[in-house]
Amino acid sequence: MSKTLKDKSALLIISGGIAAYKSLELIRLIKKSGGHIRCILTKGGEQFVTPLSVAALSEETVYTDLWSLKDETEMGHIRLSREADLIIVAPASANIIAQIVHGNAEDLATTTLLAADKPILIAPAMNHMMWNNPATQDNITALQARGIETIGPTEGDMACGEHGMGRMSEPEDIFAAINAFFFEKPLEGYKALVTSGPTLEPLDPVRFISNRSSGKQGHAIASALHKFGADVTLISGPVALPDPAGVNTIHVETAAEMLKACESALPANIAVCAAAVSDWAPTQNADHKIKKRGDETPPAIALKENPDILKTLASHKQRPQLVIGFAAETENLTENAAAKLARKNCDWLLANLVGQDDKKIFGEDQNHVYLITSSDTQDWRPMSKQAVATKLAEEITNHLEQPKVQDAAE
Ligand code: C5P
Repeated sequence: MSKTLKDKSALLIISGGIAAYKSLELIRLIKKSGGHIRCILTKGGEQFVTPLSVAALSEETVYTDLWSLKDETEMGHIRLSREADLIIVAPASANIIAQIVHGNAEDLATTTLLAADKPILIAPAMNHMMWNNPATQDNITALQARGIETIGPTEGDMACGEHGMGRMSEPEDIFAAINAFFFEKPLEGYKALVTSGPTLEPLDPVRFISNRSSGKQGHAIASALHKFGADVTLISGPVALPDPAGVNTIHVETAAEMLKACESALPANIAVCAAAVSDWAPTQNADHKIKKRGDETPPAIALKENPDILKTLASHKQRPQLVIGFAAETENLTENAAAKLARKNCDWLLANLVGQDDKKIFGEDQNHVYLITSSDTQDWRPMSKQAVATKLAEEITNHLEQPKVQDAAE
């Protein structure tokens, strides 16, 4: 798949936020890939990066002022959007997001956005309380409903010293999203099913067995496959993530429900089982809350084994062409993963070593995985879960040949 942005033109709007420094790296990545980029710097953006650094990196005039006679005669706000293939707002502050929603046109950036006839990709960046504020959440929902694409934010330490959701996506991830936008949709016509998140196995109406899976990796894979043009069904256990835009998301709780939903989503060309399916479920799901027993011994929890969804799909009569699983190992990564690959009859495994320093993969934004096939082991460097997802979508694209879902169904 070609990866050059030659002949592609982007308009980058840099609004006010400490993450603006990351946009300099984004400009560098776009230029390095042969793309053309013009930038608008808002008044807020100018507080964090200078027009000079933006101009030097983009090798273009930087536009800052709606009322500048020179700017408007040389390159008016209408032409700025007409001559771009894609408009990116990074960082997108809570303020500019609200202004786009309301159709404000009070400076060059918002006027250009209001007059835009091009697809828009925004990379929100703000304090976690601002991000979680219902006003911002409603604004994001409104923008997505209008077809504006969003990337991030991610969770982590913030410049203000607090921790939470609101960090702008890394420049490489925004760059990957730009690439995905420009490429023809290489997985168009392919059907993919992705499992994500934990399963929840009830003991009684109020108690359950589950695990700490956040669903971040599985959701990122569903998004990446959708961006590559696949028709994606995401079957997710309970997570605190929004449904990925453009993806048909089915919410389930138990492993049994997840398996049923997966089988209903067949035929498919690609199955990626990223869910952390509970290995066991209580044999009994009590109709009423199990009561304390005073002095009696606490009740024992009898468990039964859950169905192995990955293995079932990999041996199904409607087996997807490419079945991919995950393996978290504490030792002998490649040997154990290779054995698992054979045992589960799947084609590829994304394996990671957990234990000691890597203990906190669940819920983290970073992942270090190895792609294991029957003939090869690739060490993918530590990267964000979104970057893992994009790389996986690329590997899938390179691997898949002609047959589409109609053929698979025959
Ligand atoms: O056997 P183990 O749990 O290590 O295998 C992990 C892989 O198998 C993951 O891809 C996970 O989604 C899948 N799996 C499954 N159903 C289960 C257990 C694991 O699909 N019951």
